[in-house]
Amino acid sequence: MVRILVADKIAEAGMERLRSATGVSFDVRHGLSPAELAGAIGEYDGVLIRSAVKITRETLAKPGRLAVIARAGVGVDNVDVEAATQAGILVLNTPDANTISTAEHTVAMMLALYHRIVEAHTHVAGGGWNRAVYEGAQLAGRTLGIVGFGRIGRAVAQRALALEMKVIAYDPFVRGETTLNGAVALAQNLEQLLRDSDCVTLHASLSDETRHLIGPAQISLMKPSAKLINCARGALVDEPALASALNSGQLGGAAIDVYENEPPKGSPLLTAKNVVLTPHLAASTAEAQLRVSIDAVEVLLAYLLQGEVRSAVN
Ligand code: MLT
Repeated sequence: MVRILVADKIAEAGMERLRSATGVSFDVRHGLSPAELAGAIGEYDGVLIRSAVKITRETLAKPGRLAVIARAGVGVDNVDVEAATQAGILVLNTPDANTISTAEHTVAMMLALYHRIVEAHTHVAGGGWNRAVYEGAQLAGRTLGIVGFGRIGRAVAQRALALEMKVIAYDPFVRGETTLNGAVALAQNLEQLLRDSDCVTLHASLSDETRHLIGPAQISLMKPSAKLINCARGALVDEPALASALNSGQLGGAAIDVYENEPPKGSPLLTAKNVVLTPHLAASTAEAQLRVSIDAVEVLLAYLLQGEVRSAVN
């Protein structure tokens, strides 16, 4: 009998799949403190998490029988993958399940910014009707720069092309002059992309190399009217630098779904000008949460019951 710890809340469809598996017992223990998690984790063969639970080197100090961590989602920055690897623990994620929802949220954020939806809503809900003040701008004809051209970056590109935007991309792992059958021009470096874009959207994973990828030096390369979208990971952006560029008018706007600390208590972005904020919502659709829960349980069971490794990150 394999033992699984469900340490984060996942959708009912994934729980149902777990209940129907044979040879598996599981405990649902949400909200464990770091010390409680570290004390309990070694009693299980597998642990299932989303983004709320952090698995650090300390969590894995007494790994016991733990063989696998399954992350229902894409980003594994809440898991110390190096510590897991050293302890011989496999880390799995669900790379496909969130793609469409995250791409749609990115486009929604871009539309909200350019068409000033949030400000206009607040104005009308407050009894106002000043149409001239809330004049927006079209996306069509503008250049979208996509940083990180994996699954989500590509899905954003396809949607932006349908909105008649010009799309350029930068990803150190994608070579050539163009991609997506010539529809997307590849910038040779981040600096070129920042200079040439009207709007920049981030779709890179967070690592030591990408932390604060966008700071004062990078912001100074962007057009004064440019806008920044971040639906990837908060720490890709130096938040005080972005807030100060928004407040001084150096940048035209930003739409932010993710923060260096979540919730972003005290972040200067909360009070910055020309900003649209959402609470790490991009993958929180019914469809994406259903798929991540099923995919995470499937990859976990495939490994624990059949020794089959799917979507490993280490
Ligand atoms: C992901 O990495 O899958 C998304 O950001 C959603 C999440 O963290 O749960």
